[in-house]
Amino acid sequence: MIFVKRVTIGSDHSGFALKEEIKKMLSESGWHVFDAGCFSEESVDYPRIAAKACDIVLKERIPGILICGTGTGMSIAANKIPGIRAALCHDKYTAKMSREHNNANILCLGGRILDPGSAKGIVSEWLSAGFSGGRHFRRVSQISALDGIIRVHPSILAADRSALKKEIESVATADMIHVDVMDGVFVENRAFEDIPELGMPLDAHIMANDPMPYIQKALLRKAALITFHIESDVSVEDAINLIHSSGAMCGIALNPQTPAESVYPYLDMTDVVLVMSVELGKSGQEFMESALEKIRALRERMESAPVSIAVDGGINDKTAKKAIDVGATMLVSGSFVFSSGDREMAIRKLKTK
Ligand code: RB5
Repeated sequence: MIFVKRVTIGSDHSGFALKEEIKKMLSESGWHVFDAGCFSEESVDYPRIAAKACDIVLKERIPGILICGTGTGMSIAANKIPGIRAALCHDKYTAKMSREHNNANILCLGGRILDPGSAKGIVSEWLSAGFSGGRHFRRVSQISALDGIIRVHPSILAADRSALKKEIESVATADMIHVDVMDGVFVENRAFEDIPELGMPLDAHIMANDPMPYIQKALLRKAALITFHIESDVSVEDAINLIHSSGAMCGIALNPQTPAESVYPYLDMTDVVLVMSVELGKSGQEFMESALEKIRALRERMESAPVSIAVDGGINDKTAKKAIDVGATMLVSGSFVFSSGDREMAIRKLKTK
């Protein structure tokens, strides 16, 4: 039997009784429940259970429920783990919002606070709600930028464009798909002036003298991240406002010759700074080491602000490490990923610090 409804649940001793009740309710309504413990009312340490359940949530990409006496210890422990967004909820409304707005992947409950009826209502509300995306995608991405996880965006410039659907499916474990939009003026080549429907969160990198019409097109495609060049002929504030107006994340790109300082006035307004580590427009070029100093300068300037530093050009498993060491958290990679026989493995290699 294939279970589409899968969830993990864990508790310490003080949440054990409630866990068993919730488990029963979920199993009876068709959920496959992975029990991360504990298995009796004997005293256990909640961080151990939290770690086990979070591991299942991240590996299986399923939601999780954690219960301790108040729910507080479980939520503090779970939120230490990169990739986890645990919400401590005592009512249905907060639970629903934690999915819609915060894309919470763990629900924490207090076994000594909630009666079983209310707790079950909260669980049902939480599991049936979905993430709203839009401006909330941007905000959750800003939360993600705080966790230091490495995000990988394969660039379809290096993919087989005659079989795009299959190519995209082969990189489904990546975080977004990167599309280079080129106007033939800002860069010599033309590409993706009309962005196809790709079925994955879209990262549109606009290389155009006048990026505004292309930003509009990317917004119509519901791009999650839209990046334009600071060297282009545009009011940077206007472009940022347009991108943010429909909830997308904004990125500002710097050509290899453009100094880091040029973007400093906009660091409070942007979500991503993209450092180009090759000349614009062609895939398969070698990584320029000069990008590393720029990334380091940006990271020092921003400290722990929720702004991702992306790097694009010549990224493979070796150059990725160098860029990550100096502060990059988002990697755009074309040839390395798409020329690999095992793309999932290539993505995993890039993500490994
Ligand atoms: C255990 O007594 C209790 O401290 C724990 O279940 C939880 O409430 C911690 O936050």
